[in-house]
Amino acid sequence: MEKAVGEADKAGAEMILTKNQEVTDSARGQILNLLAERRSPYGFSMRRVEAEKLRRLFQAARWAPSSYNEQPWSFLVATRDNPEDYDRLLNTLVEFNRQWAGQAPVLALGVAKLAFDRDGRTNRHAWYDLGQAVADLTVQATAEGLSVHQMAGFDAEKARQEFQIPAGYEPVVVMAIGYPDDSEVSESGRPRSRKPLKEFVFGGSWGQTSTLVASDFAHEGGFDDQSN
Ligand SMILES: Cc1cc2nc3c(=O)[nH]c(=O)nc-3n(C[C@H](O)[C@H](O)[C@H](O)COP(=O)(O)O)c2cc1C
Repeated sequence: MEKAVGEADKAGAEMILTKNQEVTDSARGQILNLLAERRSPYGFSMRRVEAEKLRRLFQAARWAPSSYNEQPWSFLVATRDNPEDYDRLLNTLVEFNRQWAGQAPVLALGVAKLAFDRDGRTNRHAWYDLGQAVADLTVQATAEGLSVHQMAGFDAEKARQEFQIPAGYEPVVVMAIGYPDDSEVSESGRPRSRKPLKEFVFGGSWGQTSTLVASDFAHEGGFDDQSN
């Protein structure tokens, strides 16, 4: 379970904020700003998200690549404009997520279709493809000034029942979407960190760091939280 919002005392929260800023600054020098600036905030502004912007997020998902171009993703969207649907989706979340995600003006459930349309065979990449669609949606959201915080912490069976999701379709993730609230609470609950490249970019055989990232230069920077 993720760390509870507001758990850290004020000094701790300030340290986390400073560290998080360092991580983001370092990332900015290494990758596209859009990717560096994306984050999963705990605080959202109450500001309504324009329907046109929301549509562009789903357009971004629509144009994602997928195995056999199956496009096995669906999204069930609930905005505060429809409080009944919004609350039904909110209530599928585990308690911790419900506390902070209930501020977000938009919630969306990502669903994967588990068999190919073409021949009914199992689509081993359905979850993967949904993930790619969500990743592209998230990049689009960042470009629009929005934030997306994804959640595995929800009751998939409850979501299935609430929204009559048929067998063969899997509720995989709920997203909280909205304009981030830039106050401290947005980030102070969780330090941002990343594994160093040398821990997951291999060459030759499993577990052997690729020479591509073995040099100091390749894995220096604030992304690598546990220092090299
Ligand atoms: C599939 C998935 C499930 C996640 N589930 C939760 C969740 O249930 N609750 C939560 O607070 N954060 C959740 N997160 C957010 C991650 O904790 C977060 O992405 C990670 O700590 C990195 O932080 P960043 O996105 O700000 O870079 C999830 C993220 C993903 C991609």
